[in-house]
Amino acid sequence: MKEVKKSKKIEPIFESTTLWDFPTQNYGDMPHGDNKFNGVTPAFVIWNLLQRYTKECDLVVDPMCGSGTTIDVAKELGRKVIGYDIAPYRQDIIQNDARHIPLEHDSVDFVFVDSPYSDNVKYSDHPSCIGKISCEREEFFDELEKVAKEIHRILKHGKVMAWLIGDHWRKNTGYIPVGFKVYNMLCRHFEPVDVICVVRRNQTSNTGIWHKRAREFNFYLRGFKYLFIMQKPNREEP
Ligand SMILES: C[S@@+](CC[C@H](N)C(=O)[O-])C[C@H]1O[C@@H](n2cnc3c(N)ncnc32)[C@H](O)[C@@H]1O
Repeated sequence: MKEVKKSKKIEPIFESTTLWDFPTQNYGDMPHGDNKFNGVTPAFVIWNLLQRYTKECDLVVDPMCGSGTTIDVAKELGRKVIGYDIAPYRQDIIQNDARHIPLEHDSVDFVFVDSPYSDNVKYSDHPSCIGKISCEREEFFDELEKVAKEIHRILKHGKVMAWLIGDHWRKNTGYIPVGFKVYNMLCRHFEPVDVICVVRRNQTSNTGIWHKRAREFNFYLRGFKYLFIMQKPNREEP
């Protein structure tokens, strides 16, 4: 008798701790974003955020939406969604620079952003891609602050945004605490709600040779990313 192959469908888990570790980029039967896109966000991250911080018909925005993971997860959960990117990967993504978002003040219910961490990934040839600036330069953080200010402007009072980012290590410059620097910058505009640690998987550096080098030359491979959950404070009573 022919053996029937069991489906390996993985369902998302509604997380209850600040340590999130997902086995794959995607969940369920349908694609969410493109797991071949360099720097794709785990769909589980966005699913968890939308479960916690949004309800049906809320407007969700991703100003740097890459392969469109936020669009796919938000639509599936019955949220309204707008995805922008400087170099749109597919037709439903609107071409836009995240430093100027074409939306009204106080009009959005939730923003997710997984920004470049430095110049370590080539996303496109677009000259305005922030991923062309190294985090070794202060300019990198200045440009991300422009994005943060725009997110603050479009978000409704009392609503939440989430920013995913990782640290950086290079042989010549050593460790750069990109996460802490972005967190400090975000605190100039938002109130912290929580910080999640997202385990990094499926990386190109997750190979025997890289683990060997890390031990031999006394450095660490990046094992996690920060997920900063920040709130735009409620309007102050006059
Ligand atoms: C880490 S990827 C986002 C991945 C995405 N969340 C996904 O799941 O596919 C970062 C994205 O930021 C975009 N980006 C870089 N500079 C930008 C800018 N100035 N305005 C808008 N998008 C920008 C890049 O084109 C890239 O797609």
